[in-house]
Amino acid sequence: MNDKSAISNHGPHHVAIIMDGNGRWAKARHLPRTAGHREGVKTIKTVIKAAGEAGIENITFFGFSTENWKRPADEVNELMGLLRMYLKAETKNFHKENIKLNVIGFREDLPSDIVTLIESAENLTAANDKLIVTMAINYGGQDDIVQAAAKLAREGVELGRDESSRALFEQSLMTGDLPPVDLLIRTSGEQRISNFLLWQSAYAELYFTDALWPDFDEDELKKAISCYTRRDRRYGGLALVKQQAQKEKHIS
Ligand code: IPE
Ligand code: IPE
Ligand code: MG
Repeated sequence: MNDKSAISNHGPHHVAIIMDGNGRWAKARHLPRTAGHREGVKTIKTVIKAAGEAGIENITFFGFSTENWKRPADEVNELMGLLRMYLKAETKNFHKENIKLNVIGFREDLPSDIVTLIESAENLTAANDKLIVTMAINYGGQDDIVQAAAKLAREGVELGRDESSRALFEQSLMTGDLPPVDLLIRTSGEQRISNFLLWQSAYAELYFTDALWPDFDEDELKKAISCYTRRDRRYGGLALVKQQAQKEKHIS
């Protein structure tokens, strides 16, 4: 294992967010859950802007999980409607801001007009390079791993327990060339991954906040990043201070 140990005093390259708590936000205001989802969409806009300003290169949002189909049809329809509206409203803005939009998940189960909107947004913004925004829609981490394995099996690729096999497998995941997740944020006080980027978050720093997603804002993002920069990422190695002490012991 190569030595990647470091105090991560630089900002994260890839932030992934499990946007949770829209329903509770609405409930606290005696509003329908859908009002929380609508407010949550505004937060996405705020956070993308803040991420760009903070110099983050990749931000990935969990918008709809493969398990979210279990919700009442009305709520699922409302979420699809919001996605449709969001893509129609934001595609041009993304392009103007030099942002690349990427959508991961099983799009074959989505309404076909949404698939068309996704494809045109991805095509229009494909060459942009200020920030890569990835939306996980109908995404599940376990199914992502299975589809990668199935694809490699179809191609007759044999994998071993080595770095190049891991790299090849990683590229076959829906996240493709995206770097691994450095910082995984979940709002609303829940402390679980809910089948999000399982492989990709293998060494992510986890950050949980009680803020409900519609209340999350630029300050909350800054707090999460500042917490991240104080973490000591060891990747199974030793803390930087201990490593230094060991080296010195070795020299003397
Ligand atoms: C997150 O908010 C949005 C989606 C999962 C689509 P929730 O709808 O899960 O909100 P809570 O957890 O019920 O408060
Ligand atoms: C995770 O939130 C999925 C998304 C944010 C899209 P959920 O609200 O669906 O997760 P659980 O059911 O509480 O684990
Ligand atoms: Mg939830």
